Amino acid sequence: MPRYALLIAPSTNRVYSDAALRLTRAELQIFGGSVLSAPPVDLDETALGGIPYLTFEAELTKADLGYLANLSSIYALFELIGDLLRPVELSPLAHFDDDLITIPKYAGKTNEQFTRLLLNVTLLASRSGPAMLERRLTVLDPLCGRGTTLNQALRYGYHAIGIERDGKEVDAYSAFLRTYLKRKRLKHHAELNPVRRDRKLVARRFEATIAGAQTVTMFHADTIDARQFLKAGCADVIVADCPYGVAHGSHSGEGRTRSPLELLRAAVPVWVQLLAPGGALGISWNTHVAGRAEAAAVLTGSGLDVVDQPDLAHRVDQAIHRDILVARR
Ligand SMILES: C[S@@+](CC[C@H](N)C(=O)[O-])C[C@H]1O[C@@H](n2cnc3c(N)ncnc32)[C@H](O)[C@@H]1O
Repeated sequence: MPRYALLIAPSTNRVYSDAALRLTRAELQIFGGSVLSAPPVDLDETALGGIPYLTFEAELTKADLGYLANLSSIYALFELIGDLLRPVELSPLAHFDDDLITIPKYAGKTNEQFTRLLLNVTLLASRSGPAMLERRLTVLDPLCGRGTTLNQALRYGYHAIGIERDGKEVDAYSAFLRTYLKRKRLKHHAELNPVRRDRKLVARRFEATIAGAQTVTMFHADTIDARQFLKAGCADVIVADCPYGVAHGSHSGEGRTRSPLELLRAAVPVWVQLLAPGGALGISWNTHVAGRAEAAAVLTGSGLDVVDQPDLAHRVDQAIHRDILVARR
């Protein structure tokens, strides 16, 4: 069986430091257990020319390579021929340039690679996993901040919906996206409108339609109120990076937040209604403020099945140890 060597993006080491290869390995196993024609075997961490690689054996089909190209930390893939490396062509989904995700820089931004990891493992747990390369799926981030998940979803060619209760974040996202689309000369239509129910204002909605094909919608509202402006079953997957329960510089949205666990207890029953049948919910949170068992209990308490996955927990900094839970409806 052919043996491959996967080189991780240099930035992955900066995000996860010494957990980088372990997380790449876990993500590869999740791809292997879901969409690849067969799980890769004999996974190992090998230094080649002094550079660490994740090596594995697999019979990779063209379709398999299509999926693997989207691994959140992949930089390059080589087939090992004796002690030589033969490059394997990778074509990741790239409906927009990656600067759509890398340009915005602000306190409280969820790391781009981590956002992609969370989206990937959630997609792969959902009924839509096998169709992730060709279908125009709908991704909802119900705690969307300034839209890292939405931009990643756009890059994958999907529709994106976000909910954020800090109006400044919504305004910043709308300004950024309009400027970006204009600068890239991408045909689009964007507007910001109030949403009313029974004449009461329930949200502000920023909506952009891009090239008549993809829509991105961000609601300025409390996520708990989502059913006032979103239909049941509107999302194929929901991904949320929960407030970390620590101050993030000037990121004012976090200050007024309930504890992450309280927020999850109030919000998950609402999010479950927004998930299409077979859809999946992926959350990340700071385990210093809520244990894994407690967070999992919130998901199962709302009728979701928590998916068994390799360990994706890792240290972010002194105050944050982040973990991921994925559950299926
Ligand atoms: C960890 S941040 C997410 C950052 C986002 N992924 C990004 O990269 O910009 C969590 C976000 O949840 C928002 N939030 C907290 N409670 C909320 C609620 N009840 N409804 C809507 N948004 C809320 C906060 O304002 C904050 O922007």
